[in-house]
Amino acid sequence: MLIKRPRGWEIPESQATPEGVWLDRRRLLKGMAAGSMLTGAAALAGCMEEAEADSGKQLAAAPAADPSAGLYPPKTNMKYRGDRPMTAEDLATTYNNFYEFGSHKNIWRASQVLPIRPWTVTFDGMVEEPRSVAIDDLLAAMGPLEQRVYRHRCVEAWSMTVPWAGFPMKRLIEYAKPLGSAKYVVMQTFQNPDIASGQKQYWYPWPYVEGLTIAEATNELAFMATGIYGKPMPAQNGAPIRLVTPWKYGFKCVKSIVRFSFSDQRPVSFWEKLQASEYGFWANVNPEVSHPRWSQATEQPLGQSDRIPTLLYNGYAEYVADLYKGMNNERLFM
Ligand code: MTE
Repeated sequence: MLIKRPRGWEIPESQATPEGVWLDRRRLLKGMAAGSMLTGAAALAGCMEEAEADSGKQLAAAPAADPSAGLYPPKTNMKYRGDRPMTAEDLATTYNNFYEFGSHKNIWRASQVLPIRPWTVTFDGMVEEPRSVAIDDLLAAMGPLEQRVYRHRCVEAWSMTVPWAGFPMKRLIEYAKPLGSAKYVVMQTFQNPDIASGQKQYWYPWPYVEGLTIAEATNELAFMATGIYGKPMPAQNGAPIRLVTPWKYGFKCVKSIVRFSFSDQRPVSFWEKLQASEYGFWANVNPEVSHPRWSQATEQPLGQSDRIPTLLYNGYAEYVADLYKGMNNERLFM
């Protein structure tokens, strides 16, 4: 068990999502032994075989300098300038969730072993034609990068405000050419336990998977981030490409993506597989819907001494509330 001295603004590790799940490991293993998880585990194994084949190739190489460095800093999109004090870069890049490298916040050094070149991104499932593309070719195809300052609200009740660099996800969806019948885009992180030691923790349902509806993915706020603070994305924040959906809890923002699959079936994501009673598909921020183990009414901005109120959809309701009209039977806020 990791022992660390929290800074004033940190919540105790015992309250952090993953630690809760960690503590639930016994229950999970018991469930698996009883067979309740076997269906999910079997489905996951099929998915992992393919992911391992892909990522084995790209993670075999030694880390190389980021050849996209010349694209940064991109111009700021003035529509998304943020309205809160910016989080200090050294906080946002040293206080991270990236379970592939450990189930605690201090993974930034460990994650430096992630080789970010070569890096191949695959588009498959319900698309006109499956294809794999090298990240630098994808960046070239996505056109000019832009900078957007977004708020980020973790389900653990800490938050930050950071300048991401990247491109609208809508552009990537158009590039992928999904079939009209596709309803969801499923995003998957690399899988290589030799490099990411957290992936040896077999009770987690690796690889990390998250999903959005096509309507969410093409909403103007949904962003593919390839950089932060005017520089290429550091490994710990999800190099070379990650999702940013600022109206949702941070666990939706899957890092270091190798695969976008299109489907007409709603995916079950990493945290939902582990603890469906606490983490659902929609995961929209709502101060009035508590996590089963803590309130979501307020949040602790990294580096600040005072907590602040949490806002519905993290303050982005004007952009996204319409996406969820009439969906009263869904657990939209978990
Ligand atoms: N993506 C992967 N692959 N693995 C993870 O553990 N953690 C999620 C999300 N994406 C995670 C991930 C969680 S819980 C949060 S809050 C954000 O990444 C944290 O992003 P940051 O470290 O850049 O602040």
